[in-house]
Amino acid sequence: MPLGSVLVTGASSGIGLQTAVHLHANGWRVFGAIRNPGRAEALANAGVEVVPLDVTDDEQTRAAVATVVRKCGAIDALVNNAGIQVRGYFEDVPEADVRAVFETNVFGVMRVTRAVLPFMREARRGRIVMVGSIGGRIGSLALTSYCASKFALEGFAESLALEVAPLQISVSLVAPAMVRTDIWGANRNVAKAAADPKSAYYAWFSESERLADRILKTAPTTPADVAQAVGRALTDTPPRLRYIVGRRAGWLLRARNLLPGEMFEKIYFRQVLRMVTKPR
Ligand SMILES: NC(=O)c1ccc[n+]([C@@H]2O[C@H](COP(=O)([O-])OP(=O)(O)OC[C@H]3O[C@@H](n4cnc5c(N)ncnc54)[C@H](OP(=O)(O)O)[C@@H]3O)[C@@H](O)[C@H]2O)c1
Repeated sequence: MPLGSVLVTGASSGIGLQTAVHLHANGWRVFGAIRNPGRAEALANAGVEVVPLDVTDDEQTRAAVATVVRKCGAIDALVNNAGIQVRGYFEDVPEADVRAVFETNVFGVMRVTRAVLPFMREARRGRIVMVGSIGGRIGSLALTSYCASKFALEGFAESLALEVAPLQISVSLVAPAMVRTDIWGANRNVAKAAADPKSAYYAWFSESERLADRILKTAPTTPADVAQAVGRALTDTPPRLRYIVGRRAGWLLRARNLLPGEMFEKIYFRQVLRMVTKPR
């Protein structure tokens, strides 16, 4: 008897793929939602059921949720994982790219959440997990729209959690530190103007990219760590609102919470700016 039905968005790679496989292995009936049908193989090989879903598409969203409900009689859980980034200093990132990030990371999450809520409300049970980011709590260079979208997700998740708590529906944010996935490779998505040496920000941007790659090289957090945290958010009694994944993320957030006034920002800004504007 499965633990319940769960829809995982952005399940074609990285954290979403690992999460879908982990939940399936741990007794959930998992529907891995992917927007590119050519990327279903790893999920199918692991026994995960695959549904087409681009989270920016209303009709596909309704159809994906309807498929889960038709096959299982209910949708017990949703993992909002699909996400994109665009890299570059703000002035170099066109508004269309900023909007695309929000369309997936914020409105996409809202769209899928809106589609599952009537079923969860009716059943008086459900768990919704949002894959946020440490970038939703602490700002970062060359990632303004991504961080803005993940900060927005924090506000959405926290507010929604309050609204649906009386319906026995929980909302949890799983916020990982840096994890080596396609988001740092094939899906890195550098804005055209940011990669142009004529950009006023080019030297700082290039240095910030090198810095990100250096940190990534030694990043200890893995997609499996994030998948386990999602698993806990789906089974803990009661589930927590926030799960921070990764020691580095934990230290940074503790520092931010513990330091008085704007001391954290002062130290953090000084440190980051020194590394980017005056590299050794
Ligand atoms: N890796 C990190 O360092 C890190 C840290 C903190 C948070 N996160 C968050 O973790 C989540 C997963 O990212 P990842 O690191 O696993 O990167 P990833 O390997 O690039 O995975 C992103 C997934 O989202 C899917 N996706 C993008 N736009 C979509 C859309 N409109 N509709 C449906 N699916 C869409 C991608 O599908 P395609 O295969 O079709 O492109 C892919 O499956 C994201 O929300 C990201 O912000 C990542």
